[in-house]
Amino acid sequence: MEKILVLDFGGQYNQLIARRVREHRIYAEILPCTAPLDRIREGGYAGVIFTGGPNSVYDPASPHYDPAVLSLGIPVLGICYGCQLMAWMAGGEVTTAPVSEYGKIDLTLTADSLLTEGVPQSSVVWMSHTDYVSRVPDGFTVTAATENCPCAAMENREKRLYAVQFHPEVTHSVYGDRMLENFLYRVCGCRGDWVMDTFIEDTVAALRAQIGDKPVILGLSGGVDSSVAAGLLSRAVGRQLTCVFVDHGLMRKDEGDFVEQTFTRLFDMNFVRVNCRDLFLEKLKGVTDPEQKRRIIGEAFYSVFWEEIKSRAAGDAFFAQGTIYPDRIESGKGASAGQAGSAVIKTHHNQQGIPADVRFLGVVEPLGDLFKDEVRAVGERLGIPGELVWRQPFPGPGLGVRIIGEITAEKIAVLQDADAVLRDEMARNGYEKQLSQFFCVYTGAKAVGVMGDHRTYENVVAIRAVTTDDFMTADWARIPYDILAAVSNRIVNEVPGVNRVVYDITSKPPATVEWE
Ligand code: XMP
Repeated sequence: MEKILVLDFGGQYNQLIARRVREHRIYAEILPCTAPLDRIREGGYAGVIFTGGPNSVYDPASPHYDPAVLSLGIPVLGICYGCQLMAWMAGGEVTTAPVSEYGKIDLTLTADSLLTEGVPQSSVVWMSHTDYVSRVPDGFTVTAATENCPCAAMENREKRLYAVQFHPEVTHSVYGDRMLENFLYRVCGCRGDWVMDTFIEDTVAALRAQIGDKPVILGLSGGVDSSVAAGLLSRAVGRQLTCVFVDHGLMRKDEGDFVEQTFTRLFDMNFVRVNCRDLFLEKLKGVTDPEQKRRIIGEAFYSVFWEEIKSRAAGDAFFAQGTIYPDRIESGKGASAGQAGSAVIKTHHNQQGIPADVRFLGVVEPLGDLFKDEVRAVGERLGIPGELVWRQPFPGPGLGVRIIGEITAEKIAVLQDADAVLRDEMARNGYEKQLSQFFCVYTGAKAVGVMGDHRTYENVVAIRAVTTDDFMTADWARIPYDILAAVSNRIVNEVPGVNRVVYDITSKPPATVEWE
């Protein structure tokens, strides 16, 4: 399989670059810039891309790399910081630019290049830099410039070293994708063999080889990743697979039944549904503090889950997980340092390891090389229903973080009914895929109303709907008033116990997406 290495110098677009490469049907792998040179030499890469980064090459603390990487005979494309780094490593000069460039800038080609074949003489690119290459290294030629950046692209054609000061991976660079394609196909000589059908066939074969005739156990949450992992494993080993689905009773309306029906009817596997709503309600009785609720739900979930697993595994089974590529890459920025350094805003209960007393033959991660959109593509090809493949993110603690105050069976039922109306209206109006996430919240507030000739004193339900790229920040969605009006009317009319509906118009930050 053809592979491209994305060497990460801490730029914000490292994952985007890998995705762009894969969109050209070539497998891309991301490694931190601390990866040893031998790893690159032996990795069998058709090309290497140096990402951007926030630093200056002259700052001793900024990430550098062994200059020998430029002599391995593997084509290299340096982007932004990666461009400056290549110039610096090859003996050129980098200085602070008299004029920093940020945003859309006109690029002019100044010489023929394989990289810019099919790109017009003048086009818009996305720039974001304060340093620039002020003298190109010996053996390099400048192939493009902007008004304030005399070397916007340079290359040493013979050694197959290319560099661009702008960001070809972002869509604002109108011909950026063409340049990436040129690098991959013309410079690196790739043919594009990374397609989802091959992925499924190869993965099924690899899973069979790894698992042999042993049992394999997967925790199924009904989320996209674990559902697709279940589909792949079922295709590979059929009834050797046992999926354990712990239903804490805090799913959306009818969701538990839907998950069960999907996997028992469409796929060959053993499906175990552990219904423990009452246990969760019992443990949550009287608890109102959000963090305490999360903790209780998380602990109860894992204790039920691992008890169930232990009773089935007994050390002679594999354990499968729906881990996907972004979950497991180490980035140049030092993801772990960043996470450890940031404050804990909310406890995410689904980030726990395997307990020490649970033994397995090994861990199986069939989606470990895929991005989310690729996982969805595989899911669709495996015939997993759209409701699961396109499911929006759903928090591990479920409706537990959407009911303010004590959680009771009655409140869960009210919230499920209100939320079902919202989902129905969003689907009916074609809004489902336009929003990143939408749901109802049981606010715990009560309000006075009038229905017929009667005064009412009932519950206030809030609608939360957001758009976001990464959930680190989010904007509240501008759903048309008419649709909101229809949702509000229907909830008040169809859900007993609700007489008022409000719309949450707070972005993240300062709010979070969930209310608890
Ligand atoms: P917040 O509320 O932190 O949510 O702005 C950001 C995204 O994360 C989801 N979320 C969770 N997902 N376990 C999860 O798997 C959790 O404990 C959890 N808490 C929040 C939330 O739904 C949103 O998509």
